[in-house]
Parts: sequence; structure tokens; C-alpha cells
Amino acid sequence: MIRIAIFASGAGTNAEKIMQHFKVHPVVQVALVVTNNAGAGIIKIARDNGVPTLVIEKNIFLSKDSYLNFLADRQIEWIILAGFLWKIPSAIINAYPGKIINIHPALLPKYGGQGMYGHHVHSAVIKNRERESGISIHLVDEIYDHGKIIMQAKCSVNANDDISALAKKIQALEHQYYPTIIEKTIIKAKAALN
Ligand code: GAR
Repeated sequence: MIRIAIFASGAGTNAEKIMQHFKVHPVVQVALVVTNNAGAGIIKIARDNGVPTLVIEKNIFLSKDSYLNFLADRQIEWIILAGFLWKIPSAIINAYPGKIINIHPALLPKYGGQGMYGHHVHSAVIKNRERESGISIHLVDEIYDHGKIIMQAKCSVNANDDISALAKKIQALEHQYYPTIIEKTIIKAKAALN
């Protein structure tokens, strides 16, 4: 089995879809949930799905080890970011080259970068009267929201859409695509090694 860790900071609705998708899967297993927020909804979701959790501390995350020994002990091969708000340190990026995937609630490179997450993104999109928005699933590198884009999906932004209406459309796209794109990306990378 290829063991993956989901990193999440908030409600965890994407993490939940990912756990459901891989619940009975022949190749991929969600083996760990990592969060920086002990009060996050993701903790209960992980528990309900029988997935162990790790609550991380910033000083250790930013140190040289950066929980790498913990991840290695649990044989984690891929890291999936699902609403994880801390920047991934170089130590982890170097240990998992091309093996960290993120989802962003906009059509990158627009509306990316530090501070651009969740409702802040939708608010900026509406303020700029964009006619469309969407999701970007991409590999993670050292720069916020910058790595190679794996796929994007679009939705329309109507004149009367408010933040919550747009958030709903984006969330539907995320839930529809993220688990299957993760699956395809991991399986393609495995096939390339054989
Ligand atoms: C998702 O919309 C995800 O795209 C976004 O956080 C939300 C997490 O929701 N990520 C970012 O904004 C990253 N810059 P969830 O906790 O319900 O899965």
C-alpha cells in the first residue's frame, strides 16, 4: 500500500472526501492526518474514519527535522494538503520531491499567495467582478501556490453571487475532483517507476 498523510487546518470537508474515497482501495491508504489546530473539525473526522492524528507545533515544524522522522516511521510516501494554512518548510519539500499535492480555491496563478485562502480568495474574486473562478490542484514547491498545476476546473461567477454562494460552487468542484485527481497522480507516478 502507498501510505499518504493529509495535512489540514480547518473543517476538513476535503479530507473527509479523500478518506472516504480511499477507505477500501487496493493501492492507496490514508495513514495519518496532520493538523496545526487541535480544535479543528478534521480531528473528529479522522477519528470517525479510524485515521490517527498528529497535532504539530510550529517550532518543531520549522526545525530541521520537521517531523520527518515521524512521517518516515509511519512510512508516509505522499502528503496531501487540504486546507492546510502553514507554509510547508524546505525540509519537508526536499524529503518529498514532487510528492506533495495542494488544492487551491481559485484559478492559479490568479488569487494565490500568502493570505489567499478560503473566503479571502472568494471575496477578492467577487470584488474584481470576475466572470469565472474555479479550483487548482497542483504540486507544492517552496513558493506559496506556485508548483506545477495538475488540473483546474472552472465555475461561473454570477453578478448576484456572494461569498457563500461562490464558496459552495468551489467546494462542490473540490469534492468532485480532488480525491480522483490524487488517486490518478499517485498511480501515474507509481507506474512511471515500474
Ligand atoms: C478549501 O476550499 C481549500 O481549497 C482551501 O481551504 C479550504 C479547506 O476546506 N485551501 C486554501 O485556501 C489554500 N490556500 P475544508 O477544510 O472544508 O476541506
